[in-house]
Amino acid sequence: MRKPLIAGNWKMFKSLDEVGTFADDFIPGVSDIKDTDILICPPYVYIQALAQACEGSPVMVGAQNVFWEDQGAYTAEISAPMLKSIGADYAILGHSERRQFFSETDETVNKRLFASLKADLVPIVCVGETLGQRESGKTFEVIGSQIRQGLKGLSTEMSATLVIAYEPVWAIGTGKTATPEIAQEVHAYIRKVITDLFGSQIAQGMRILYGGSVKGENIDALMAKDDIDGALVGGASLEAASFERILRFKG
Ligand code: 13P
Repeated sequence: MRKPLIAGNWKMFKSLDEVGTFADDFIPGVSDIKDTDILICPPYVYIQALAQACEGSPVMVGAQNVFWEDQGAYTAEISAPMLKSIGADYAILGHSERRQFFSETDETVNKRLFASLKADLVPIVCVGETLGQRESGKTFEVIGSQIRQGLKGLSTEMSATLVIAYEPVWAIGTGKTATPEIAQEVHAYIRKVITDLFGSQIAQGMRILYGGSVKGENIDALMAKDDIDGALVGGASLEAASFERILRFKG
């Protein structure tokens, strides 16, 4: 019922030449994949080139953030309509690195969410607890609050395309993946919060991705879990062969 989505978050990596080499290596190899949505979110400056390279292939392109105003005197910001106009279809919102290093809050995530939906970008809203929050038994409280505040004011109708990504902060870039059981427990909780907010039909259709040290060696066990509908992949999405292996998960 839920089509898996595997998304690569390239963060601040690659030169333009390296983007071209990746596209040449990766796109022909995955052109047969139909039953999983494939997404790559490169740095802003490569979105247009990558989207052009992906034309006619199943690979979609997204942004790693958006600003909430459409246009104006906001030096260095990039708006949702701008991103849409250069070929982006998705936008990652509220990534923990944005929260940690750039003062992103649930309130600003909420503004970016509405801007993305208005421009017809599919939002991927990221939530996740820190190690300290997990160890002090606050995981569900933190995740519940991030979802309720981040999605505040969203109508049931608008929530239909939304994607949530659960990325425990302690598992990002550390090589420490959450076990499939830990991830499943939080994903089931997220689906319950979404049920409370928007009803079971929306919750049952919503894709909830796991992110945090996903790689070829752990994707199958993660995808075998009922409430894990895909992955948001950092480091292992930077190399064509390792990302393709993840896309060809069994589970
Ligand atoms: P890693 O896969 O490198 O741990 O990064 C996860 C992530 O932050 C994806 O958004």
